[in-house]
Amino acid sequence: MRSYIAAAAAAMTLLLGNAAFAEEPLVIKFSHVVAETTPKGQGALKFKELVEAALPGKVTVEVYPNSSLFGDDKELEALLLGDVQFIAPSLSKFDRFTKKLQVYDLPFMFKNQEAVDKFQNSDVGQSLLGAMTDQDLLGLAYWHNGMKQMSANKELHVPGDAKGLKFRIQASDVLEAQFAALGANPQKMKFSEVYQALQTGVVDGQENTWSNIYSQKFYEVQAAISETNHGVIDYMVVTNATWWNELPDDVRAVLAKSMAEATSYSNGIAAKLNAEAKDKIAAAGKAKILTLTDDELKQWRAAMKPVWDQFAPGIGQDLIDAASAASM
Ligand code: LMR
Repeated sequence: MRSYIAAAAAAMTLLLGNAAFAEEPLVIKFSHVVAETTPKGQGALKFKELVEAALPGKVTVEVYPNSSLFGDDKELEALLLGDVQFIAPSLSKFDRFTKKLQVYDLPFMFKNQEAVDKFQNSDVGQSLLGAMTDQDLLGLAYWHNGMKQMSANKELHVPGDAKGLKFRIQASDVLEAQFAALGANPQKMKFSEVYQALQTGVVDGQENTWSNIYSQKFYEVQAAISETNHGVIDYMVVTNATWWNELPDDVRAVLAKSMAEATSYSNGIAAKLNAEAKDKIAAAGKAKILTLTDDELKQWRAAMKPVWDQFAPGIGQDLIDAASAASM
């Protein structure tokens, strides 16, 4: 009898233990490198809000902005190791995993953000979300930031003005070729180091969106920003495919729905946040904003165009044609 009671008590302890364990919330980490006020920063916070409202006490989403958990040199590895569950690197940072996404980096590929959006929502654009699943990286959504502008410690009106200057670039071979085509010296560098590199003269210039130029204070340490709109910085929200597929169905469904809603939200405010950032940079009166003439823009386009031929074999002409069609 005594041993029966002991066994029952042990079973009860085990059960209660399991129940307590089952009530532990699932902690999901979302790491990114930009400020919380940017489109990506806001999108990540919206995702957290939606998931936690739908699964109270069951799932917690911890958002780490500003490279506070992983910088962009480490975040992809961390995702594959399971140290973080969501990241949203810029499309330029997947070079090591697929050449297909290089299509987004080709200079002057998209005439504006609407064209980028159109391509991303096309069948071809959507299929690229799955381009890295063989390496356990699953793309869940595209998030917008905006078109890139070029800044430097001197005024850049025509391509020749960039000659000989050192430019910080993201880890992308296309961007490296783009600056080499200008006779400039590109340097791959993680985002968290750019401000200091500009301030101390390690590099002379950089390319980025208004939102990043404002929130990282690059405008304080640059003489001028040329409104080139020569490329795009958008993101792919990626997760670890194995982790995602092993989630309980109900949790995965909520995460997918919340991701879709956070995507609409973030993409809906990106243009406004960039326009506001541009206005604030203008009002600060530190870096001069240069509007280029059609003729000057034509020169930038011509100087960078050889990059297309260089990367077409790796990207695939079909993909280049499909992306080009979005600007027609
Ligand atoms: C950069 O490295 O300049 C950007 O990709 C940062 C970001 O995530 O917007």
